[in-house]
Amino acid sequence: MCSIISIVLLLIAFSNATLAKNIWYYYHHWSDNDIVHLGNTNCGQDIYHFINNTCDGNARIRLGDDVPGGCIPPTHVYHGNIASGNCQLFEASIV
Ligand SMILES: *[C@@H]1O[C@H](CO)[C@@H](O)[C@H](O)[C@H]1NC(C)=O
Repeated sequence: MCSIISIVLLLIAFSNATLAKNIWYYYHHWSDNDIVHLGNTNCGQDIYHFINNTCDGNARIRLGDDVPGGCIPPTHVYHGNIASGNCQLFEASIV
């Protein structure tokens, strides 16, 4: 009985995992007064790849999830994202 439940739970976990998408943001540039949040909300499990993006001006950019307590955000890929000027670039999820 217990093993049947375990298998069902595994299948549910696996089917959720296969529903998660990979989303790529390469070489985006934000500027001026842009306010941007890119990432999952509501327990979403999409995996974001944030590569070589830049920002300047007064932009406020957050790359990461904004999920309710109890959800575990997936691990995203961060590489080469650079803020200049007064831009604030956050690479983090808020749980
Ligand atoms: C990001 O920039 C680095 C350094 O310029 C480069 O080596 C790398 O190939 C770039 N990544 C992508 C995915 O283009």
